[in-house]
Amino acid sequence: MLPEWDRKYSINNEKLDSQHQKLFELAAKVEEISDRPIYQVELKKLVAEFFSYIKVHFQDEEAYMAEIKYPYLEEHRLMHKQITKSMIKLIQSIKSTNDLKEKLYLVVNSWLIEHIIQHDMMIEHWRQSTQVKNTSDTFEEEPQKPKKFSYQCQCEGKIHKVPYDIHLKMQYSKVQFKYKECSSNLIQCKEKTEI
Ligand SMILES: [Fe+2]
Repeated sequence: MLPEWDRKYSINNEKLDSQHQKLFELAAKVEEISDRPIYQVELKKLVAEFFSYIKVHFQDEEAYMAEIKYPYLEEHRLMHKQITKSMIKLIQSIKSTNDLKEKLYLVVNSWLIEHIIQHDMMIEHWRQSTQVKNTSDTFEEEPQKPKKFSYQCQCEGKIHKVPYDIHLKMQYSKVQFKYKECSSNLIQCKEKTEI
């Protein structure tokens, strides 16, 4: 079951929030058709709609990241490229309506879960942390701690808190990091994001 859009996924930008909502709606549509018969023409229309909406959304989101000087713009742009590529591959490799339905669901699912919920939220998290820093003198607010990700090595029960830039390298540039004491590769823990 795919999650529904919720205020907790807001990145406090009206345009991008409404685009994310629309993408959640499109994803719900993909989920809805996954267990009912559908005409190929209807399915193709949905894929085309998804594809063109994603293109516009990525452009707008990248412009926003540039505007706020988001430090992980390049890595984020790379993820957008990967998603676009997987959509193109999907469209090119359609064997049957059922095949397309299954693959589309996979792309949409990992796109929503991994991308909007994890990576787009980092944009807002970063923006808020810089804002708090700028206003902390006036409001005496606690600056937000940078978000870290939990990784395990082979040492029993040992959890390593990894910053976002290292996490991105391990997940998206396929760079391996070893823990020097046991020389084993770090592997991400199941629960993904935490403070
Ligand atoms: Fe994004």
